[in-house]
Amino acid sequence: MYLRRLVLQDYRSWPALDMELGPGVTVLVGRNGHGKTNVVEAIGYAAHLGSHRVSHDAPLVRAGQPHARISATAVNEGRELTAHLLIKPKGANRASLNRTTVSSPREILGVVRTVLFAPEDLALVRGEPGVRRAWLDDVIAMRTPRLAGVKADYDKVLKQRTALLKTAQAALRKGYRDADGASALATLDVWDGQLAQLGAQVIAARVEALGLLHSHVVEAYHTLAPESRPAHLEYQCSVELPEGAGSLADTSLVEAAMLTQLGQLRSKEIDRGMTLVGPHRDDIALVLGDQPAKGFASHGETWSFALALRLGVYSLLSAEGTSPILILDDVFAELDARRRRALVSIAKGAEQVLITAAVPEDLPENLTEDVPLTTHTVTAVDDAGGRYSVLDAEATP
Ligand SMILES: Nc1ncnc2c1ncn2[C@@H]1O[C@H](COP(=O)(O)OP(=O)(O)OP(=O)(O)O)[C@@H](O)[C@H]1O
Ligand SMILES: [Mg+2]
Repeated sequence: MYLRRLVLQDYRSWPALDMELGPGVTVLVGRNGHGKTNVVEAIGYAAHLGSHRVSHDAPLVRAGQPHARISATAVNEGRELTAHLLIKPKGANRASLNRTTVSSPREILGVVRTVLFAPEDLALVRGEPGVRRAWLDDVIAMRTPRLAGVKADYDKVLKQRTALLKTAQAALRKGYRDADGASALATLDVWDGQLAQLGAQVIAARVEALGLLHSHVVEAYHTLAPESRPAHLEYQCSVELPEGAGSLADTSLVEAAMLTQLGQLRSKEIDRGMTLVGPHRDDIALVLGDQPAKGFASHGETWSFALALRLGVYSLLSAEGTSPILILDDVFAELDARRRRALVSIAKGAEQVLITAAVPEDLPENLTEDVPLTTHTVTAVDDAGGRYSVLDAEATP
């Protein structure tokens, strides 16, 4: 797949951008803070409905503007589709596909597929479980957009159930054991059922996706760090299955186990005002040899593992038929020679690669041999209305 056109309006530092792209390597060159990452972040947003840098949408809207727009036209095996997104700092975003408004932005998932490498990726290994869950959920959303809907429904039910736990907590503290407290408890039973039903589907989807990704990640890690111990990934689930019982991919089994645990944990949950079991409490254990990578891996091993997680996604999606757009945001400076080479060899096989660099010399030489190469400059301009980014500005004398 490749991106043929990107149009931005009021996205971060870009009041307006209209950029034609093609297969091969496109490099965005410009000084620090001039707006390069903002461009690839917008492309990543069209693919994942989220930024790789921030968890809220407000910073994505250009200061002082009511909303931002992204339009991305992707060509996949000759078939062209344009995804349009309207991003609001608060409230629900809107989307359309070609000229048709869709009921949820999730319906544009899959139109643009990207795998983005960025310095922030170290958090995949060192960061909180939420970073790893998001990595896996993202793969699920790109492969099966319907399941992104299940995850969104789970998050909604979780939010409402957690709010109810807090109400029950307040009611019980005030001593309203019979009235408010009892009705909150009765409503909790209803939410428990929905939470367990959706939670089991989220867990099954993750276990399945991780099973598919596993060999790709392990192999990528071995290529990047052949002298290191073998890598291994494991889904760590907060839902405990009865001893000797089947697998986490069995939704009815997981649903029943989760309901049981919710029942057992109820008073503790009311006490703490939070939901203590479910996929939002899970993690993906990254293991090297027999040690967890987090806390034990060296700096180089940590980088290799983080890259392997991204490369594994790239390799799985490519093996399944659609090679995603490869985005390399400022990563080469961070990598040693072998890791650079490994990344270059992947990039050579990609239909489209987008790279940001402060100066062209930052790019590995062999990267741009024998491939169509386009270089654009990104410049920040200051005027009375503030600072903004422009593409391929005329050189100022
Ligand atoms: N919501 C926003 N409104 C206006 N400007 C913004 C907004 N968000 C970020 N910026 C500006 O965008 C610039 C950063 O852009 P970006 O991260 O793309 O830089 P970069 O070219 O990738 O730099 P580096 O080489 O350091 O990675 C900053 O100057 C920042 O002030
Ligand atoms: Mg940058």
